[in-house]
Amino acid sequence: MKVAVLGATGLVGRTMLKLIEDRAWVSGDPVLLSSARGAGTKLEFAGRNLECKEVTAEDFHDVDIALFSAGGDASRIWGPVAAGAGAWVVDNSSAWRMEAGVPLVVPEINGRLIKPAGLGEGGIIANPNCSTIQVAMAVAPLDEVFGVREAHVTTLQAVSGAGQKAVAELERQEKNPSSEGNDIFPRPIFRNAIPAIGAALPDGSFEEEDKVVRELRKILDRGDDLAVTCTATRVPVVTGHSAAVRLVCDKPINLVRAADALNKWPGVKVDSDPHGYLTPREIAGQATVHVGRLRAETNNPHALMLWVVADNLLKGAALNAVQIADLLAGKSQS
Ligand SMILES: NC(=O)c1ccc[n+]([C@@H]2O[C@H](COP(=O)([O-])OP(=O)(O)OC[C@H]3O[C@@H](n4cnc5c(N)ncnc54)[C@H](OP(=O)(O)O)[C@@H]3O)[C@@H](O)[C@H]2O)c1
Repeated sequence: MKVAVLGATGLVGRTMLKLIEDRAWVSGDPVLLSSARGAGTKLEFAGRNLECKEVTAEDFHDVDIALFSAGGDASRIWGPVAAGAGAWVVDNSSAWRMEAGVPLVVPEINGRLIKPAGLGEGGIIANPNCSTIQVAMAVAPLDEVFGVREAHVTTLQAVSGAGQKAVAELERQEKNPSSEGNDIFPRPIFRNAIPAIGAALPDGSFEEEDKVVRELRKILDRGDDLAVTCTATRVPVVTGHSAAVRLVCDKPINLVRAADALNKWPGVKVDSDPHGYLTPREIAGQATVHVGRLRAETNNPHALMLWVVADNLLKGAALNAVQIADLLAGKSQS
């Protein structure tokens, strides 16, 4: 299948390129696209240097799968153009996620929504928000066993979740702590924690928190019956998001069954010791979602607490998108 990558020069785009290098369903060289800024950038693919070009409508002719990671504005413009030209767009931005008729997919949870692509049919499939993906991967197996009715989430999100300029901002502040100028984050991120990700919303939340609430319900095919709350924080970690999650379930919690359900879920590993955990530093570069600190709540037999860490650039973005593309190509997940 002919592939295009829009946002190829970015953190997610570069990670996607690495992941598709050895996918047998990719035919020929991918078309690498960016804005005018990145045009001319040479990117390595399968040992060769390919040149990135500024996106135009013609670039999507003959493309079967278009992997997008260029932000919401670009996705809103180029999504319908690429889909109209017959490509299947797998979009990493938030532009189409809550649109009726656009599947929001984590392959291990609702991959059934993806049918192998009819060539030339075209359409848009949305990749969820990075924090939502890893939380959903931990909640889905527990929902099957215990029936989750409340999910309360606090995230600790790495700076790479905000793109390469955000990583550069942390590195700049690390080198020169006395001049802590900040463009990407609302306050200096070095030696700090910032409970504000995305635009402020009228209900007192920030955009990232609203994404977790709405996207988790859509992925799990639930409505208001699933109560979700989220506080999203940015921390000075380069790669790897963490989330502290508290679930309240219909059925009383049995920790052995909870650990068993998590371990059996594809793409999830659990440390069932309540004091066991992994950190972002330990899991960066891994495809797996890791669950630890699994423990019951003393005063509520229906409540369970856990710690979830995953690589935001892999399962939180590029890997999940490429897994969706695997399904479109008629391949099982790898
Ligand atoms: N980073 C994560 O962990 C993560 C997780 C989930 C989802 N996402 C989403 O993935 C997208 C990209 O994230 P990132 O972290 O890779 O950001 P990034 O490092 O800042 O890269 C952004 C990419 O988008 C391109 N781009 C920006 N505006 C464009 C436009 N108008 N037309 C065409 N290309 C344009 C840039 O190209 P130039 O070189 O031309 O500037 C660059 O390739 C965002 O929507 C983000 O929300 C990111």
